[in-house]
Amino acid sequence: MLYLLSFILIAMIGIQARQITPAEVKARQRRAYEKLLEARIPTPPITSTGIKNITFSNPKASEFWVDGTAIPEVDFDIGPSWAGLLPISGAQNETRELFFWFFPPAAQGSLDDLIFWTNGGPGCSSLEGLLQENGPFSWSWGTGAPIVNQFSWTNLSSIIYIEQPVGTGFSRGTPNIKNEDDLAAQLVGFLQQFLEVFSELKGKKFYIAGESYAGMYVPYIANFIFENPGMLDLNLQGTWISDPSITTNVVSQNIPALNFVNKYENVFALNSSFKQTLQATAESCGYADYMETFVTYPPTGPLPLPGNTTTVSRNCGIWRMIFNAALLINPAFNEYRIFDTFPILWDVLGFPGSFEDIQVSPIYFDRLDVKQAIHAPTDVAWTECSNVRVFPQGDASQPSSFTVLPNVIEKSRRSVIVHGLADFILMSDGSRIAIQNMTWGGMQGFQTPIQTESFVVDGMGVMGNMHNERGLTYYEVALSGHMIPQFSPKSAFQIMQYLMGFRETP
Ligand SMILES: *[C@@H]1O[C@H](CO)[C@@H](O)[C@H](O)[C@H]1NC(C)=O
Ligand SMILES: *[C@@H]1O[C@H](CO)[C@@H](O)[C@H](O)[C@H]1NC(C)=O
Ligand SMILES: *[C@@H]1O[C@H](CO)[C@@H](O)[C@H](O)[C@H]1NC(C)=O
Ligand SMILES: *[C@@H]1O[C@H](CO)[C@@H](O)[C@H](O)[C@H]1NC(C)=O
Ligand SMILES: *[C@@H]1O[C@H](CO)[C@@H](O)[C@H](O)[C@H]1NC(C)=O
Ligand SMILES: *[C@@H]1O[C@H](CO)[C@@H](O)[C@H](O)[C@H]1NC(C)=O
Repeated sequence: MLYLLSFILIAMIGIQARQITPAEVKARQRRAYEKLLEARIPTPPITSTGIKNITFSNPKASEFWVDGTAIPEVDFDIGPSWAGLLPISGAQNETRELFFWFFPPAAQGSLDDLIFWTNGGPGCSSLEGLLQENGPFSWSWGTGAPIVNQFSWTNLSSIIYIEQPVGTGFSRGTPNIKNEDDLAAQLVGFLQQFLEVFSELKGKKFYIAGESYAGMYVPYIANFIFENPGMLDLNLQGTWISDPSITTNVVSQNIPALNFVNKYENVFALNSSFKQTLQATAESCGYADYMETFVTYPPTGPLPLPGNTTTVSRNCGIWRMIFNAALLINPAFNEYRIFDTFPILWDVLGFPGSFEDIQVSPIYFDRLDVKQAIHAPTDVAWTECSNVRVFPQGDASQPSSFTVLPNVIEKSRRSVIVHGLADFILMSDGSRIAIQNMTWGGMQGFQTPIQTESFVVDGMGVMGNMHNERGLTYYEVALSGHMIPQFSPKSAFQIMQYLMGFRETP
């Protein structure tokens, strides 16, 4: 009987739903989106591949023009783009230069907007983001050759990848920064030089996006721009940080580690006596039950630090204990995406997860023909993450959630924090703690709980959890490791559409 009733109910819901089909909703959204774009953008010349070709009036721009048909190993036209080195200031004696690669928007992309993408590290190259995350062509782990990226962020707008700070990738000069404010000042100095050459980009709506250690870079750069109005001729709208470093290691690695292992018990496959050791460690260090006890919605005051210390106490390095044990039984264990097992996937950028690179093939951006195609210095040995210290004495800045992030959220139109649920190097519970301990818009943390199954991706369905309050939207992406646009490109694309105001709902 119950079965029959529910059957009828389902049938009725089915009939209801048929009144507007998903295809119709999609078509309407498409039409609305196209209308929006028509209203905003004067139609520029379209190249053979449908990519918008911006004409830059400064003759110096042509020195940076990249022939999209001549990118080594890429057997399709990536369209026009511009790449090369530019200094971080206009000083005559300036010796420091950053490497950039700029792409104009694809056919549906907006000409009013400009995204800046940076990877983290510190010292890791943004060309990783370009080639493996959100660029127009993609050559990801285990893939034999480059392919068109269907979820390229050039479908949204122009994008510039910058290898920064000084010491990263192809960039030139001696690093001397002491903290994130120094980093922001040099990056803004570079952008000023860039806008002199590519002056048609002045005044664009600007978005700063990055992952991992860019959880430090991005908020500090955005804060610097907001606090120095008039320095940069761009109209900063919002920031994206994914799997970000925004708090201390205790919070982002050690408090969440035991919960994480319990949740993914069968993926880690740790033996039971070791699991007992972990439980005892978490209890004695004040990590067990931390989430249940302190991470409430709303919070009841500042969140305590276990052991009252921002550094991991003796015998409390539970993250490291788990990592070592995981590697012992799964030598292919990848802290950036826990589902990986043998074989270790080949990486054309020579950074195959948690392990030493032992491949014999050349690293893509270290090839002479690649360097020549993109105006990169041929005498620089390119590695994905730099061997030199980009903060020679370390980064003296406090975690961004303790300092500038609230101001950045308050001054932005929209801000997103995104976290992959299969990332072990920085865990989503750490982001939750950081958010609940942060005061912005006059209140501490989210006031109402993050509902499960609240992140829905068009055409895919429930893809994790999402919560939106006072200008900040937080996403947790199911099945994604550390690099969200690489592991869940469709989710990343939708989140970026929301950040940029191209869709109303998160
Ligand atoms: C695109 O712009 C570049 C540089 O301004 C120019 O050399 C090229 O001919 C243009 N291509 C098309 C298809 O308009
Ligand atoms: C350039 O010269 C100025 C003034 O002499 C000096 O303060 C600055 O440190 C120099 N910059 C570099 C990068 O050498
Ligand atoms: C991006 O543009 C390409 C080429 O026009 C298209 O095939 C693809 O479907 C677009 N992707 C999205 C997510 O709009
Ligand atoms: C929460 O913020 C306070 C400062 O407002 C800080 O003292 C405390 O260490 C933070 N707690 C965590 C868990 O990061
Ligand atoms: C942390 O500091 C508080 C206040 O100073 C104190 O009451 C508490 O006992 C300390 N906890 C530990 C584990 O040291
Ligand atoms: C259980 O795992 C721990 C941690 O990796 C290891 O040291 C120990 O030898 C394992 N015990 C058994 C019986 O496999």
